[in-house]
Amino acid sequence: MTVDPEPPRLRDAGADDAGRIAALHAASWRWAYRGILPDRYLDHECAAERARYWRERLSAPSPDGFVMLAEQADVLLAFLAIWPDPDGRYDALLDNLHVAPEARGRGLGRKLLGAAADRLRAQGHRSLTLWVFDANRPALAFYRRLDAEIVERGLDEFAGVRIPHTRLAWKDVTRLAALCRPGPAAVRS
Ligand SMILES: CC(C)(COP(=O)(O)OP(=O)(O)OC[C@H]1O[C@@H](n2cnc3c(N)ncnc32)[C@H](O)[C@@H]1OP(=O)(O)O)[C@@H](O)C(=O)NCCC(=O)NCCS
Repeated sequence: MTVDPEPPRLRDAGADDAGRIAALHAASWRWAYRGILPDRYLDHECAAERARYWRERLSAPSPDGFVMLAEQADVLLAFLAIWPDPDGRYDALLDNLHVAPEARGRGLGRKLLGAAADRLRAQGHRSLTLWVFDANRPALAFYRRLDAEIVERGLDEFAGVRIPHTRLAWKDVTRLAALCRPGPAAVRS
């Protein structure tokens, strides 16, 4: 008899998760941002920089945001972070969504984003925004598949380079949550 593996479990991150999140974040950037961010940064700086970043972020949790993890058998497969939109134009900012390379294309990105949209709705928020590098075509396609609207274009400055990026947004997280639920294609339009 074969036993189906447990489905991925979602939970909020705590300070103890900083190291594992940083490792997944750096690995995902090395994979997704090759040719977008400088090799020097990806190969020699981003692991330590992400470790510092997540240690600081999770040591003083923000009451206005959350970091959500997807795990299977205690292996971290994906995470996202939600903070208030620093520009104040939208209720919330999706700051990171990363699925481990070996777990991509199995619905995990959608599941995690749907859980975040549900949480934002329950907190009384309506709109959600994010920035994506223009050259990150797969991520753009993923968000557009979930009906994100292109609302702004600009230049980001990171790791010593200027990178064209695009702001996407959803006006209604309730609709986004519905689009993220598994179900008939008609529901997701
Ligand atoms: C982008 C990312 C988060 C998507 O997560 P995922 O788990 O691979 O995507 P899912 O399996 O949940 O896909 C959900 C839907 O988006 C579509 N989709 C996903 N990746 C896609 C791609 N590269 N091109 C077109 N459609 C795509 C899927 O086909 C699916 O739609 P369907 O149900 O109609 O088939 C993930 O691939 C990732 O971590 N990429 C690297 C890091 C990154 O770029 N993060 C975003 C930074 S802004």
